[in-house]
Amino acid sequence: MTTLPEARLEQLRELINFHLYRYHVLDAPLISDGEYDALYRELVELEAAYPELITVDSPTQRTGAEPLDVFEKVSHPAPVLSLANAFNEEDLFAWRKRIDRLLPDEINLNYVVEPKIDGLSVLLTYQDGMFVQGATRGNGIVGEDITANLRTFFALPKKVPVDPASNVIFPPYFVVRGEAFFPLDQFAELNKKRQAAGEPLYMNPRNTAAGSLRQLDPKITAQRPLTLFIYDVIAWDGEGIPDEQWNRLSYLSVLGFPVSKDIVLCQNLEEVVEAYWNWKKKRNQINYEVDGIVVKINDQPLAQSLGFVGKDPRGAIAMKFPAQEKSTKLLDVVVNVGRTGILAPNAILEPVEIGGVIVRNATLHNYDEIARKDIRIGDVVMVKRAGDVIPYVIGPVPDLRNGSEQLIEPPERCPFCDTPVIQPPDEVAIYCDNPTCPEQLVRRVEYFVGRSAMDIDKFGSQTGALLIEQGLIKDIADIYYLKRADILSLEGFQEKKVDNLMLGIEASKTQPADRFLTALGIRFVGTVVAGLLLQALGSIDRLEQSNKEQLEEIEGIGPETAATVVTWFESQSNIRLLEKFRQAGLNFELESSQPESDSLAGSIFVITGTLPTMSRNEAKQFIEVRGGRVTGSVSKRTDYLLAGEAAGSKLDKARNLGISILDEAALKRLASSKS
Ligand code: IVH
Repeated sequence: MTTLPEARLEQLRELINFHLYRYHVLDAPLISDGEYDALYRELVELEAAYPELITVDSPTQRTGAEPLDVFEKVSHPAPVLSLANAFNEEDLFAWRKRIDRLLPDEINLNYVVEPKIDGLSVLLTYQDGMFVQGATRGNGIVGEDITANLRTFFALPKKVPVDPASNVIFPPYFVVRGEAFFPLDQFAELNKKRQAAGEPLYMNPRNTAAGSLRQLDPKITAQRPLTLFIYDVIAWDGEGIPDEQWNRLSYLSVLGFPVSKDIVLCQNLEEVVEAYWNWKKKRNQINYEVDGIVVKINDQPLAQSLGFVGKDPRGAIAMKFPAQEKSTKLLDVVVNVGRTGILAPNAILEPVEIGGVIVRNATLHNYDEIARKDIRIGDVVMVKRAGDVIPYVIGPVPDLRNGSEQLIEPPERCPFCDTPVIQPPDEVAIYCDNPTCPEQLVRRVEYFVGRSAMDIDKFGSQTGALLIEQGLIKDIADIYYLKRADILSLEGFQEKKVDNLMLGIEASKTQPADRFLTALGIRFVGTVVAGLLLQALGSIDRLEQSNKEQLEEIEGIGPETAATVVTWFESQSNIRLLEKFRQAGLNFELESSQPESDSLAGSIFVITGTLPTMSRNEAKQFIEVRGGRVTGSVSKRTDYLLAGEAAGSKLDKARNLGISILDEAALKRLASSKS
């Protein structure tokens, strides 16, 4: 007999999984964050009281698994095939001609066109509706068991059907196939955060997704916002799976699997070609990398009956887009120094147009990578650009060498201060370890005055470099000890310009303590971490007095960050620096986080474009102190888009979704009308 807690637990699991699906798969939530949190809390409390009733499909188990020593091998129930490629229309028609010989005369085929996602193939096994195993493709016959990692995906159904109201028949055993990927906006966001925290950047979304999926510790995978699309059923035992690919995809979608919405049913190859051109036009507006389309014969039993050649089924073909990769010459490699002292090699390229943009520079990531790929100055190299991601050098084309190419050696000394470089034992990056390196100081000042930190908008990076060169700034605190007369004596600094600069510096003293902490540029302490630390501790003084263990107790602060922060505050030169800031009158205490008013409470905003008087950070603060929330991308949950000059795709998306669009003045009116 079902007891009360069992029934409620089952109901809560189902409800929460359903709302996760509405949010993460359909992008159409039905309840507020608060209501969701209340359900989740109830589940956590009930599971704490009845731990023996916790099941693997419980949403609380998303990150519950322990790290593995090694991935187990998994034999696939059917070969996991690949696809042959067509590169143009001719290839596509030739494919049809090849299979025509194997088909009955006068057969009328129709086709499903799907995006070819540049991700990683995954296989998901369901038994009695429960997700029981997830695997990589491996060699197509045997893959690796990555169940715990896949369980961390919000979009992956832990039990089907996800919507309990859908009365759909499904086989007691089936295995679906899909593609896991890193959404491009989240990838750009991750790298932005890493840059702000002085950490080396990730190379590209695909490799980062692959690295995240093959983590032995699922808690690491859980921190990466990976998602997936399902497009096939490779094995099943029982009733329910439709024969036509088109119906199969809608069936999968009804079960609750994430399925691409951008699929097209084409009656003939001419329509396929049209779909190809439409896709090619929009490939850069899509939030994942698409390297072509996949054309599948809609009649799946017929497609299967055609068999395969090697690893490629005859019943489907990939029609690839021209790569957003081009070859060009690597003219030189320059070293950039970051504010944490990281020395990053950067490629100077013969300018080349890639996907409508002229690329002159690209990242070479680090010297290990250069050596591993044997990249040389003078080489013809392949350069790739995808979405917002910084262009990067994929590798050399060794066949085109003429012998004049030169090896690239990592610098032994910092090119700016001549200090010997160091390489921490567990890192590939090399660093300049000199805290007084003038180039590091340029970067630190640039960051200190920048938008995400103290936001002194009249203080450009050239101003910083000049003041450092003139010896007027020797550390970041010197910004507050600059004398008007000294700056006036510099070339190009007239009275008005100097007055504006001095006013901007003075005004920045009132910036809140979490911005000031961010501005100090401590490794791993970007905007988010600085906020967490100060909300927990209240002041920079208390942070200075905290030990590693106390910091680790703060939600969201890991051991590495805690250790780095403690070491920073132990350094004598940093203690002196803080004292200088204190004397200058900066904010060491976080003011009460009570909203000034709650006139915007509960509303979700997205900001885009350049506003007439506020910086984006000021607008964000304006909204947050009034109880509103600011998020990065427009979705159905967004209440208002605050749009300035040169607003781009977010404005189009908001218009399409019918979201209210405000300018700065309208925001201020809204805030005062509601208060
Ligand atoms: S179908 C027999 N559909 O592309 C079916 N594959 O280059 C073979 N891929 O290994 C695969 N999106 O990892 C199929 N909509 C899609 C796909 C897709 C991406 C990947 C898949 C495959 C590779 C072949």
